[in-house]
Amino acid sequence: MVYSFYIPLTFTSTLYLSHHFESLINSYIISKIGIQDHFIPPELASSLRYNLQNLFSRNKFHLGGTGNDIIDDSKVFRGDSIHWLDRKHEDTFENMFFDLIDAFVLYLNEYCYAGIKSYEFHYTLYPVGSFYKKHLDQFRNNDSRQFSMIIYLNADWHKNDGGELKVYKDSKSHLISPTSGKLVFFKSSELEHEVLITNKERISITGWLKS
Ligand code: OGA
Ligand code: NI
Repeated sequence: MVYSFYIPLTFTSTLYLSHHFESLINSYIISKIGIQDHFIPPELASSLRYNLQNLFSRNKFHLGGTGNDIIDDSKVFRGDSIHWLDRKHEDTFENMFFDLIDAFVLYLNEYCYAGIKSYEFHYTLYPVGSFYKKHLDQFRNNDSRQFSMIIYLNADWHKNDGGELKVYKDSKSHLISPTSGKLVFFKSSELEHEVLITNKERISITGWLKS
């Protein structure tokens, strides 16, 4: 059947989004790691990259912690700095990002009965030479984090830049390169992972869907 009307394939189109999410969920179901190379469109990725770099240059980032707000010796465990996104910032691109996440959460709750009630996301910057040692994305005394999502914003990433996400699964490990627009999605309590030492400044948005 040929439709005579035009369905815009923009990222706000519900039709396009559900197709997008379906292939992501399929890759998650098959391999426990959902990966989508172009989860956010290039224009939105470059606006968020601009936001991140602007906030970092204005000293709005702080060191990431390891437990429930315990920073202690975390620098030997993780070397990244973070800044939380918030709709209250009334930033156009942050809000577009949250609109996309909202659509994804709706999809997960409707088609996968995921029971997601809230989420949290931060901008992340790993300086040259930093890493994040092998860990699970759950706090010792709080298991509300259901799914981890990492969206990379690195415009120009080459193999020798390092900084791969290494995910451990079934006694094997998988290396994922942090290229711009890519989303990685997995169950927070299930897969141990680490960030290998980066030879170039490495940027992303990291977040958790919570029950
Ligand atoms: C994290 C994390 C992975 C990445 O922030 O918990 O594991 O690739 N990030 O940035
Ligand atoms: Ni993690």
